[in-house]
Amino acid sequence: MEPSRILLAVGGGIAAYKVPELVRALIAQGHSVRCVLTEAAAQFVSPLVLQALTGEAVRRALLDVSEEGEIDHIRLADQSDLVLVAPATADLMARMAHGLANDLVSAVLLATQAPVLVAPAMNVNMWNHPATQLNLELLRERGVLRVGPDAGELACGWEGLGRMAEPAAIVAAANRALSSGSMSDQRVLVTAGGTTEPIDTVRGITNRSSGKMGFAVAAEAARRGAEVVLIAGATSLPTPEAVRRIDVGTALEMRAAVLEELECASVVVKAAAVADFRPREAADRKIKKESLESDAISLELVRNPDILQEVCQRKGTRIVVGFAAESHDVIEAARRKIRRKGCDLLVANDVSRADSGFSADSNAVLLITPDGAVEDVSLRHKTEVASHILDRVEKIRGERNA
Ligand SMILES: Cc1cc2nc3c(=O)[nH]c(=O)nc-3n(C[C@H](O)[C@H](O)[C@H](O)COP(=O)(O)O)c2cc1C
Repeated sequence: MEPSRILLAVGGGIAAYKVPELVRALIAQGHSVRCVLTEAAAQFVSPLVLQALTGEAVRRALLDVSEEGEIDHIRLADQSDLVLVAPATADLMARMAHGLANDLVSAVLLATQAPVLVAPAMNVNMWNHPATQLNLELLRERGVLRVGPDAGELACGWEGLGRMAEPAAIVAAANRALSSGSMSDQRVLVTAGGTTEPIDTVRGITNRSSGKMGFAVAAEAARRGAEVVLIAGATSLPTPEAVRRIDVGTALEMRAAVLEELECASVVVKAAAVADFRPREAADRKIKKESLESDAISLELVRNPDILQEVCQRKGTRIVVGFAAESHDVIEAARRKIRRKGCDLLVANDVSRADSGFSADSNAVLLITPDGAVEDVSLRHKTEVASHILDRVEKIRGERNA
């Protein structure tokens, strides 16, 4: 990891007491750190401590002749490889989302062209408030990266989501944000969403997959510089930036598209929920209920091809990541699946949980490797899960190339 210039924007939340530890951890990685504080932040952490730790003047006022004369806010914005906002308060994220520039930190955040990473921290009810969630969505759409918050006991006495991520997790996220070209030599093929198997011209059998997990993987791979092809089943999600998308309907169409694109891919991530069965025959017009002789109708289902298995059989030097949606006995079922299929990493979802899996924005997964080892990735936004999966893919690639 190349040393970088990090501008650390500190918001006025109780978690600011962890900022000196965060500064030390960033400096230990070789990064140079300069701090800018909101007026509120200076009530929670001493500017003098941050100045002593970073060896750089700490700025907090926008309309101050002496501070602005030393290094103006536009230079602060321009001279950074990453702007890290920690803790990101509800108020500061609202200012960011709506383009306010009425204090030094928000002005710098509006002016910078560097990637921005926020580490939110607040009371659980502030976090869950629709205003905060809408602001987060706006920021996410604009490419602002996020780490945390974690769930747990909060300083205010409440329990739930709202704790700032630990300094080590923030440093790891900052390093990821700074290594945006780390997959520029990779061609990543991602499948996402559910297939629809027609019964007649208007009806079909499908499943509850939203496609969000696969789309998050495609977006993250593109952000890391990979050339990305996304083969999408039924979903209304917009195409992530810099991703080539192929829409398909049935499992057979998905298989054909995957096999066609496979040749050029160095990484395959199969997040789609492909139907295991399809009706043997689909009527070529809408089946009229008046035309049925009884109240019951029988559909004969036949097995669809196993695309993941076929991809694994032609794997070569590719890294193949499979997904497993399990509702019980998750670890054992996933271990059996990775052995049977022969992929390099299996992402197991417990789809019986309401807060993760199919349509949710968040996911808690287990990452299983061929030797049966399990990594527990606790509940977090699907963009963060995607990032975690691609970190593992990059690690496997690194080990193979070593
Ligand atoms: C003791 C105390 C703790 C606070 N902790 C938080 C917090 O953790 N997160 C948050 O969003 N706001 C918190 N606030 C409210 C912010 O300080 C307030 O919204 C402030 O305007 C934020 O300013 P800034 O966004 O410019 O830093 C706290 C306020 C007090 C008095």
